[in-house]
Amino acid sequence: METVVSGIRSTGRLHLGNYFGAVRNFVKMQHEHRCFFFIADYHSLTTHPAPSDLHAGVRQIMIEYLACGLDPEAATLYIQSDLPETAELYLFLNMNAYMGELERCTSFKEKIRSQPDNINGGLLTYPVLMAADILIHHATKVPVGKDQEQHLEMTRTFGTRFNRIYKVQYFPEPYAFNFGTELVKVPGLDGSGKMGKSEGEGNAIFLGEDPELIRKKVMRAVTDSGPVQPGQPRPEAIQNLFSLMHLVSSPDTIAHFDGQYNACTIKYGEMKKQLAEDMISFTEPFRTKIKELSSDGDYIRKVILLGAEKARSSASKTIKEVREIIGFRKF
Ligand code: ADP
Ligand code: TRP
Repeated sequence: METVVSGIRSTGRLHLGNYFGAVRNFVKMQHEHRCFFFIADYHSLTTHPAPSDLHAGVRQIMIEYLACGLDPEAATLYIQSDLPETAELYLFLNMNAYMGELERCTSFKEKIRSQPDNINGGLLTYPVLMAADILIHHATKVPVGKDQEQHLEMTRTFGTRFNRIYKVQYFPEPYAFNFGTELVKVPGLDGSGKMGKSEGEGNAIFLGEDPELIRKKVMRAVTDSGPVQPGQPRPEAIQNLFSLMHLVSSPDTIAHFDGQYNACTIKYGEMKKQLAEDMISFTEPFRTKIKELSSDGDYIRKVILLGAEKARSSASKTIKEVREIIGFRKF
């Protein structure tokens, strides 16, 4: 049995990228390992949400975790800010995280570009807080999408550096994990890059999305005028549609449109219609469960209390030991 930790920021709702990159693996791992899945609300502060949005976002992600089949008895489902031990470990790790390595981090460079008027210290040290999330429970496996690979590498750097500085074998080395071999990158609908909530409204399909909106978004997805020569390589936007089909459609459907593409007879309008219907069927159980759970405030509260209690018993042990190692000792 290994220890597993992963989290998702509390901004917004879960989309298909979050599901296939992360949450689907959480569901599969929860009965086999010691699992901690949390909602990264401290991390969300890097974008300065209004307090009511922060609160609503946390509640929504918890509802969606449960709707995906996460079991609060099997796994520990908690809110990051219910664990101030994480913030303390973040403080300690920050002392040994160097400016150069933080500035070189790809996600930081992207943020400089996407939010140039809010380049705060939290963004720079984002990977340190993430390392604290993971190391606080001594995790070895971290189910995440491909975009998080570099953050995991930094987590290993911070953990092993701590071990070296204090001459201990305390933190294990955690690795990004996905069932199968490759980490997943689900493409968005705008023709390039990954599906993400910050990449523009029409780019992501959410698990709780209204069917009519799914149809609208998919029909608006970028395509081109179609292949003219058999065997022509697929442009990125077209390949993305096929990749999305692989996630939600049947093998027959995929083979049908593959054949049409290769024969240059494909009509993208038809392909998109089919993709939208398959996405609607795929998300149906999530939509139903999300609605159901949304009105069950008592249950959500119970889950959150239970998670905080379980998570703190693991984290308080770590922080006590870390303080001792660093030299904060009783007089
Ligand atoms: P977003 O990218 O929408 O802001 P997060 O950064 O909170 O979402 O991601 C939460 C988890 O979902 C991470 O493990 C991340 O790797 C995964 N994830 C997000 N988008 C994708 C995607 N398009 N493909 C695969 N995994 C993804
Ligand atoms: N950085 C992750 C993301 O944006 C979210 C996250 C925060 C996380 N802490 C984590 C993921 C710890 C795994 C483990 O997707």
